[in-house]
Amino acid sequence: MKRELALDFARVTEAAAIASHKMLGRGSKENVDQVAVEAMRLALNRMDIDGEIVIGEGEIDEAPMLYIGEKIGLQTEDSVKVDIAVDPVEGTRMVSVGQANAIAVLAVGKKGSFLKAPDMYMEKLIVGSKAKGLIDLNKPLLDNIEIVAKAKNKDIKDILVAILDKPRHEKIIKELQNLGIKVYAFPDGDVATSILACIDESDVDIMYGIGGAPEGVVSAAVVRALGGDMQARLKLRSSVKGITLENDKISKSEKRRCEEKGLVVGEVLKLDDLAHDDEVIFSATGITSGDILEGVKRKDNIVKTQTLLIRGNSKTIRYINSVHNVDYKDEKLYPLFK
Ligand code: FBP
Repeated sequence: MKRELALDFARVTEAAAIASHKMLGRGSKENVDQVAVEAMRLALNRMDIDGEIVIGEGEIDEAPMLYIGEKIGLQTEDSVKVDIAVDPVEGTRMVSVGQANAIAVLAVGKKGSFLKAPDMYMEKLIVGSKAKGLIDLNKPLLDNIEIVAKAKNKDIKDILVAILDKPRHEKIIKELQNLGIKVYAFPDGDVATSILACIDESDVDIMYGIGGAPEGVVSAAVVRALGGDMQARLKLRSSVKGITLENDKISKSEKRRCEEKGLVVGEVLKLDDLAHDDEVIFSATGITSGDILEGVKRKDNIVKTQTLLIRGNSKTIRYINSVHNVDYKDEKLYPLFK
């Protein structure tokens, strides 16, 4: 992949972030997502790539745009062939109610770079480079915490574990806190928190918990680019949300989709299984300000964004502060791509 392409991908997440910011605090997750998806698709379709969405907004029958399998980009004879994992808004609820830490995200790699995971739940364990090669999801979480503490030369009471603040994690959060281990329980957005676990400046040592599988694959791309480590396990909805008729039905379809893709529910997936190649471009633009990025700031037609752009090949990490001149009168116009 040409390195110049990286900046174009930054423009794509900038477009999604700016678009979704218009829906900030308006209470509709659907609208937040829809405008971001539209902007992201428009931006991707202007790029000289022959792309395929491998992680997206769902299957073709449930997502009109950026669905899994959708072909994207100018697709000329010379276009570079890429697989793209997108999450136009990671934290739709946060944007809809104006909470911190929402980002627009994508990861791009050569064909076959990413696990084609169905849209279901995934248990994830993520650590930074110092504990690379040492974690094992088959072991209890506490064993992994001890392993990370040893690798980082820390007492386990000084280890900070970030866990999604969901009812399914209440027990584990209490158990860890009773042992004196620090827990950062965050409401949503495990991609941003996975990045925190891999950057030295952050206090987060481990990201653990059950969240979305698509977010897991996007996280794997950036974890790999940042030199961290990750293990994961696909989980059926009924095992995460409880056994009900509806959840059982969904779980059956999840199981079938996994079988079709040659995936085994509950089997440990290593970082290599999730993101197979170093030649990855990862771009995230802040929508609302958070732990890793500033959110969109708008005054009349002037919009400021901050983007984290990482090239896996060189492991270069860029923070791009941009000032855009945006005409909001035409909702469909994204002058970023003029
Ligand atoms: P969305 O914005 O796509 O809804 O994702 C937010 C998120 O918090 C993810 O970061 C996380 O992986 C997933 O939702 C958890 O799912 P659930 O809200 O069903 O527990």
